[in-house]
Amino acid sequence: MLKTTVWVVGASGRVGKALTTALKKDTDFKVISTGREVDITDLDAIEQACMIYRPNVIVNCASISNADYCEKNKVEAFRVNAIGARNLAAVSSSINAKIIHLSTDDVFSGENNYPKNEFDIPTPKSIYGQSKYAGENFVRDLNTKHLIIRSSWVYGEDWEDYVSYVLSKAEKGESFEAAIDRISSPTYMNRIVDFIIKMIPEEEYGIYHVASEGMCTRYQLANTILTMAGYDPTLAKATSGGGSAVVSTLLENLMMKITGVYQMPEWHVDLENYIKGMKKEG
Ligand SMILES: NC(=O)c1ccc[n+]([C@@H]2O[C@H](COP(=O)([O-])OP(=O)(O)OC[C@H]3O[C@@H](n4cnc5c(N)ncnc54)[C@H](OP(=O)(O)O)[C@@H]3O)[C@@H](O)[C@H]2O)c1
Repeated sequence: MLKTTVWVVGASGRVGKALTTALKKDTDFKVISTGREVDITDLDAIEQACMIYRPNVIVNCASISNADYCEKNKVEAFRVNAIGARNLAAVSSSINAKIIHLSTDDVFSGENNYPKNEFDIPTPKSIYGQSKYAGENFVRDLNTKHLIIRSSWVYGEDWEDYVSYVLSKAEKGESFEAAIDRISSPTYMNRIVDFIIKMIPEEEYGIYHVASEGMCTRYQLANTILTMAGYDPTLAKATSGGGSAVVSTLLENLMMKITGVYQMPEWHVDLENYIKGMKKEG
């Protein structure tokens, strides 16, 4: 059987690494993975790489994804997150390859306390969000065979994420503040990876929100992590995240409901399995 050639761009990053590992276990795929050695801001480099690799699918995991860094380095943020995405979209289209592009819930401002679906118009506030939204627009405009993925509060192995923050506090017996007015849905990185792999052969295109079902506040999440891991849940102290308004980056997976291509679990299901897995390793 002819294998699908998948080129993972930004494969030294967190999502890129997890995706490459999972793809390599599947014999349906021939996997090419690159890090910075193929600079996505260099159009010639992308064209040359495509001539050599001849991918059927390009997954763009390359990004400047540290929001604080983006705020201080606007030119670099837009160069990688917007122009890099533009280059990959243009070249993938020219060879009739599909592009799967990783984006973020930060394209939404966090204002208006209702779940945002794929048809809501983003109004990003941060440079990170603005540059990622510009990247999304290039991808949409330049390659009709596109899939844009947004997720929220992502956690996973080897991450400096909220789960590891809470557990590191708990191990030291330190209490910490957790906001009652920050709302979203924690999503396991390998769940996103699973979704991407499922979508590679599908003829479904457009924007997909890939967030766990349900919702919680940071405080509820901290409390749940502590309880699941067997720590004292009162170490988490309810506080306000600052400002007068609730900040909600809750995503609704409306495209999944419309197409029926995938079903996300409730947020605590993956979280519980993840924490159980950590306990076994520890
Ligand atoms: N909430 C959400 O929806 C959410 C959460 C997490 C991630 N994401 C998205 O998922 C994607 C991957 O995130 P991540 O956490 O895995 O990011 P990451 O760990 O920061 O990895 C980014 C990757 O991009 C590479 N890179 C940076 N500039 C490059 C360039 N000019 N050319 C080629 N490669 C370049 C990096 O290389 P180096 O390792 O050499 O720096 C790294 O391999 C991003 O698009 C991010 O926005 C979304």
